[in-house]
Amino acid sequence: MKVAVGSDHAGFEYKEIVKKHLEQKGYQVIDKGTYSTESVDYPVYGEAVARAVASGEADRGIVICGTGIGISIAANKVKGVRAALCTNEYMARMARKHNDANVLAFGARVLGIDVALGIVDEFFSTEFEGGRHERRVNLIKKIEKKIFNIQEVCLIVRARQRG
Ligand code: RB5
Repeated sequence: MKVAVGSDHAGFEYKEIVKKHLEQKGYQVIDKGTYSTESVDYPVYGEAVARAVASGEADRGIVICGTGIGISIAANKVKGVRAALCTNEYMARMARKHNDANVLAFGARVLGIDVALGIVDEFFSTEFEGGRHERRVNLIKKIEKKIFNIQEVCLIVRARQRG
């Protein structure tokens, strides 16, 4: 399985540890940055990981910032991405079982590294349950379709207006 990982400066050190952890378990890791603790803007890395997952370059993603909030919000703007901000193993398990989350988010300033690695392991060892949960995930996809169709129509109209 290919896993795209990304963080801002606040999540950089955890990203490096998570990367090694995943590689030791045999996952192929695609690092979308950042590559140091120099201050950067988390949306850039949330989007990069989300696009990797949405395009199929990666099967899953992990995004890390200080709280996990900003970078998960950014990742969730990309169509096809269901990023789940988790603070414990139960949430990680349910994010997979019930929400078929394809991106895991957490905050490096919120969790100890051992808790974070436990969350990662739970996320990667749990399958989507399907059934009634599939119906609900499909409703999420329906919302995406509405939003993106409107955006596409707006782009076409604007392009026509410009000639
Ligand atoms: C960076 O200081 C911090 O705002 C960021 O890592 C994150 O917590 C935002 O949601």
